Amino acid sequence: MNVLLVGSGGREHALAYKIHQSKSLDALYILPGNPGMKNLGINIDMNLKDINSIIKFCFDKKIELVVIGPEQPLVDGMADFLRENGINVFGPGKKAADIEAKKSFAKSLMVKYHIPTSGYVEFKSSEQKEALQYIKTQKYPLVIKADGLAAGKGVLICNSVSDAENAIKEIFVDKVFGASGDKLIIEEFMEGEEASIFAITDGKDFICLPSAQDHKRIGDNDTGKNTGGMGAYSPASLITKEILAVVEEKIIAPTIKGMENDGRKFIGCLYCGLMITSEGPKVVEFNCRFGDPETQAVLPILEGDFLQLLYSASAGALDKNAVKYSNGSAVCVVAASKGYPDAFNKGFEIYGLNEVENDIVVFQAGTKEADGKVVTNGGRVLGVTAITKEMDLKLAKQKAYAALEKIHYNGIYFRKDIADRAIL
Ligand code: GLY
Repeated sequence: MNVLLVGSGGREHALAYKIHQSKSLDALYILPGNPGMKNLGINIDMNLKDINSIIKFCFDKKIELVVIGPEQPLVDGMADFLRENGINVFGPGKKAADIEAKKSFAKSLMVKYHIPTSGYVEFKSSEQKEALQYIKTQKYPLVIKADGLAAGKGVLICNSVSDAENAIKEIFVDKVFGASGDKLIIEEFMEGEEASIFAITDGKDFICLPSAQDHKRIGDNDTGKNTGGMGAYSPASLITKEILAVVEEKIIAPTIKGMENDGRKFIGCLYCGLMITSEGPKVVEFNCRFGDPETQAVLPILEGDFLQLLYSASAGALDKNAVKYSNGSAVCVVAASKGYPDAFNKGFEIYGLNEVENDIVVFQAGTKEADGKVVTNGGRVLGVTAITKEMDLKLAKQKAYAALEKIHYNGIYFRKDIADRAIL
């Protein structure tokens, strides 16, 4: 099979790593890819918005499957354009991607289909006065979210009326999230622990990959600003068999069915961000794609033919036996640039990428090649993943941090406590 993978981050590097292992793969092209993916496929340079050139490329190279990694091209409708031209795609169309692109839509879907989540109200920017009035009547903490895409940064936890006033001002007046903040939602705060589950679906049927837990804050012990994710481990032991059964029955199945009923059939990876509360699992957010960095911990502990799984979902006949959990575990620690998630410098040479052991995979994210060297080129630079054959997160953590000792660049920063909540 000839495959085109869209994206360039750590998630896409993990997707490429897994697709490359498939016996059914002939050629893997990556648009645009990153230096770490060069030994897994052929990186190609094309404008992601130039859909006609991408369609022509697919015909020229006899592409049988396009896998779209990031949310933006999905939200822009890339999957629809490709499908309209007869090309198989793993990834939802624009209307289905609304489940991530419009939080107010995701909430209304959950209300309509009785999917457990926190209570909420929504306000348009023209209703700023009403929003400011509403927050005076609420219990704290509460959560204010920009309605649209915000790279994981559009969620503001407010501990007081004054925090909430500032959040509304940031979104509606300062427009820190641009047009994504033309609407906001105000939600009840949920107590509990978070976990992520990826459901791979052909629009009707689904399977869940091993669970994971992300670490969203920049500092140890979950302190400081929200980021795109500073590390993840898999599986997440808080997702017991019993909890998974509830998630499948009460959350994933009705969501996939509801999307289909509403003319928004979802084909791809439905990311379920969950809060495990005392009342059971509830949805924090849905995303329309694989999570990052969770993918870098989840995919290495899958056995079987991952490409077959993606292809069968795209073709509407999900092969539920294509992959299985290896019984192992994985810890991914993100190495970032000093200053992230605020301003940071880039262009620093990365040393030690090839000095890691066999059970370590260094997924590249914010990197590029300059003068034949790999240099930093983003806030989240690498995802260093250690894999164990058996479920042993303590060992996986030790190995990941030992590998990080061999990797250097100016301004390297990483959390020291990834997976501790599952170990201690
Ligand atoms: N790890 C969170 C996300 O992918 O949105």
